[in-house]
Amino acid sequence: MPLSVAVAGASGYAGGELLRLLAAHPELEVTTVTAHSNAGQLLGDVQPHLRSLAHLRLAETTPENLAGADIVLIALPHGQSGAVTAELPDDVIVVDCGADHRLADEAAWERFYGGDFFGAWEYGLPELLVDGGAGKQRQNLAGSTRIAAPGCNASAVTLALAPALAAGVGLAQDLVTVLAVGTSGAGKSLKTSLLASEIAGSASAYQVGGVHRHIPEIQQNLTAAGAVDPTLSFTPVLVPMSRGILATATAPLAPGASAADVRAAYGDAYGDEPFVQLLPEGVFPRSGDTTGANTALIGVAVDEAANRIVALCAIDNLVKGTAGAAIQSLNIALGFEETLALPVNGVAP
Ligand SMILES: NC(=O)c1ccc[n+]([C@@H]2O[C@H](COP(=O)([O-])OP(=O)(O)OC[C@H]3O[C@@H](n4cnc5c(N)ncnc54)[C@H](OP(=O)(O)O)[C@@H]3O)[C@@H](O)[C@H]2O)c1
Repeated sequence: MPLSVAVAGASGYAGGELLRLLAAHPELEVTTVTAHSNAGQLLGDVQPHLRSLAHLRLAETTPENLAGADIVLIALPHGQSGAVTAELPDDVIVVDCGADHRLADEAAWERFYGGDFFGAWEYGLPELLVDGGAGKQRQNLAGSTRIAAPGCNASAVTLALAPALAAGVGLAQDLVTVLAVGTSGAGKSLKTSLLASEIAGSASAYQVGGVHRHIPEIQQNLTAAGAVDPTLSFTPVLVPMSRGILATATAPLAPGASAADVRAAYGDAYGDEPFVQLLPEGVFPRSGDTTGANTALIGVAVDEAANRIVALCAIDNLVKGTAGAAIQSLNIALGFEETLALPVNGVAP
């Protein structure tokens, strides 16, 4: 008997991607889908690409409508999920794709988000180095019933920088990150700045100057990996693609560390990972190669003249950046094979 799954926020981009992946999961069955302004509609009318689930009707997002399922996956705007999850029974397994349960530091929550603070759940990035690099986050996800899926930009930057900092080949201060980000990262609701005529043929930075909400999440992750008080400049740039992130992250090279040490650190961290793949020396990732896949592609170089490590990470923001990470973490929590129902191959061209 498959376990039953409810998806809250099923009319949005992250919810839609959860459903696309769940539809191919042999151990899980989607029984409930909920929405806000689209409640009452058939899923097939709102997400016409989800053919096998088109018959499901979107209910209102309430704890009562979600509570009957074995598993609840939540893809609501930040600030909306905490109140809902607080009402769900303890024996229901909950994965929140929003930010409400990512940050452990209430002051950081207050500064970057504001509103009620709901506290941190197990963080849904299995490949995250923890305990200063001695372990991986997957060990903490086994058997967990409350999981916070990571932010998409936070995943890309964390995966790019954590191995260098955990191994001590990079320094944790003066980290500089610039990300090319596709428009689906901003969600499905209408915004003038996201109209095709505004973004086609143009690139624009947003949330510049240390204000982006993923900064404290990245610092929290890098600290788990062993960095002490990491400082980070973070600049996302909206580019005309619907999906994908290409993060370029640089860190000062630690005194005495060589380019071979840096490559070894990334090889040790990701050599056995099914979804995080280190590209050969001199090869750097393209975001398009991760489209539709739960794969993160990493490329690393050392800029000798600048004395910096340059690490690039490409992911699909909707797969490894959210829905894929959620289902990968859920697979671990439930004791299923970690890779179940998660594509490693992208869609091209
Ligand atoms: N997009 C990404 O790449 C990405 C990556 C990582 C994490 N996330 C996180 O996933 C969550 C959803 O993001 P998204 O991009 O999927 O956004 P979205 O496309 O705008 O979808 C939002 C969903 O929440 C519902 N909703 C809107 N306002 C609501 C309210 N006041 N109360 C209850 N439900 C409400 C919407 O329902 P109606 O459409 O019916 O109004 C829709 O189903 C966010 O927390 C986001 O940070 C997104």
